[in-house]
Amino acid sequence: MKLTLRVWRQQNAEAPGAMATYEVDGISQDMSFLEMLDTLNEELILSGDEPVAFDHDCREGICGACSLVINGDAHGPERTTTCQLHMRSFDDGDTIDIEPWRASAFPVVKDLVVDRSSFDRIIQSGGYISAPTGTAPDAHATPVPKPDADSAFEHAECIGCGACVAACPNGSAMLFTSAKINHLNVLPQGAPERETRVLDMVATMDDEGFGGCTLTGECATACPKGIPLPSITAMNKEWLRATRKVRR
Ligand code: FES
Repeated sequence: MKLTLRVWRQQNAEAPGAMATYEVDGISQDMSFLEMLDTLNEELILSGDEPVAFDHDCREGICGACSLVINGDAHGPERTTTCQLHMRSFDDGDTIDIEPWRASAFPVVKDLVVDRSSFDRIIQSGGYISAPTGTAPDAHATPVPKPDADSAFEHAECIGCGACVAACPNGSAMLFTSAKINHLNVLPQGAPERETRVLDMVATMDDEGFGGCTLTGECATACPKGIPLPSITAMNKEWLRATRKVRR
């Protein structure tokens, strides 16, 4: 495949950025999107140019590091992570626009790399339990109803990639924050911090400059792990419950 790539280049957080155009040839349909970018970078290095900076780690769809807006969509045309997107999703001769996540709470570090430490600070403010864990207990030692266990697993699938924020016209992090809250609040092990968790994590989310939710649903559509939109409703219920309980 021969492709035209229009890639966002930005030297650092303060410098103005712009799209740069590159041609790449010999791209296999079996390559991942990141391998295609590796090919571009090899060519740039061989010709003495600076390679394109982009984030990645596991390349297996589990770490959430890869984060590209591809042709206007967070993670591109398939519902998966950028590292799990393959070039068979594109056609020979295509022009592909590649940009970083666009959100004021995710400032650009360089080229396609953004600073997502705001997510870390949301987690730090309540995404933990204080129950002593010790060695692994017997599976039936703490009974958990099956629907609650399933719900916890569903929310625990969030990999914190930030696609929800990038896809949202408001730059809202409510899907991410709700996944992290609901994952723990539904379990007995998360009960001691049930109220402080939701109050602190929502407050941190607001402090970090993420936008509010207007239920456009773009976040759930872009989420590579299928975190459902009602997760936000569940978080709002938890928040209301916590505010009532704390006021008493
Ligand atoms: S590089 Fe880890 S999820 Fe894509």
